Amino acid sequence: MPDSRRIVILISGRGSNMQSFIDAVAEGTLDAEITLVLSNNPNAAGLERAEEAGITTACIDHRLYSSREAFDADLLNTVNAAEPELVLLAGFMRILTPVFIQPFAGRLLNIHPSLLPKYRGLHTHQRALDAGDREAGVTVHFVTPELDGGPPVLQARVPIKTGDDADSLAARVLEQEHKIYPLVANWFLAGRLTHQGSKVLLDGQAVPDQGLDYQTLGPDQLR
Ligand code: GRF
Repeated sequence: MPDSRRIVILISGRGSNMQSFIDAVAEGTLDAEITLVLSNNPNAAGLERAEEAGITTACIDHRLYSSREAFDADLLNTVNAAEPELVLLAGFMRILTPVFIQPFAGRLLNIHPSLLPKYRGLHTHQRALDAGDREAGVTVHFVTPELDGGPPVLQARVPIKTGDDADSLAARVLEQEHKIYPLVANWFLAGRLTHQGSKVLLDGQAVPDQGLDYQTLGPDQLR
């Protein structure tokens, strides 16, 4: 049986969310073992950060594959070999097919920098600014084959301030990302968070359709 604390993190870039997991494990706020950090991009800066932290890394370069399904099949084999209880997409910039998603249904999470269901896909901060929104935020959600469409677990909101551009807004949202993603992983690994069918439950209570709101969590939910 796999150790129930084992996590695998998939990245494509700088890996600041991955670093937030490394830090949370080191600080003792996340009871987990990061067994593998995998990137589709050989130049992802996050790979170096993971290696510096003594974590096993792997790279599967999507450019060497003729189809998404063939890439996903190899990804599945490599991730399975690490025997994760939970798989975390953290800035993983590939669209995954059911070849990868189905075997991990209910134990695959993503972080998306918008208040879903608003702004699926790319350039979320610019789109929020262009729309004249007064707030932006981030959502951690379970992954289904629908892109950025799986059920939300937790959202954090930030104000949009006068003079913001996409970079300043992204930085404000990123601070929240680093708080909420390790928290959701901790809930899952502690057996408190489940996703079955279309239902997401935390501590036996149904999570609202848009996810819980980080700012209104009670003390029991903040750990
Ligand atoms: C984050 O904004 C995340 O929400 C999005 O991609 C970005 C990844 O950043 N999915 P990092 O690689 O974790 O620093």
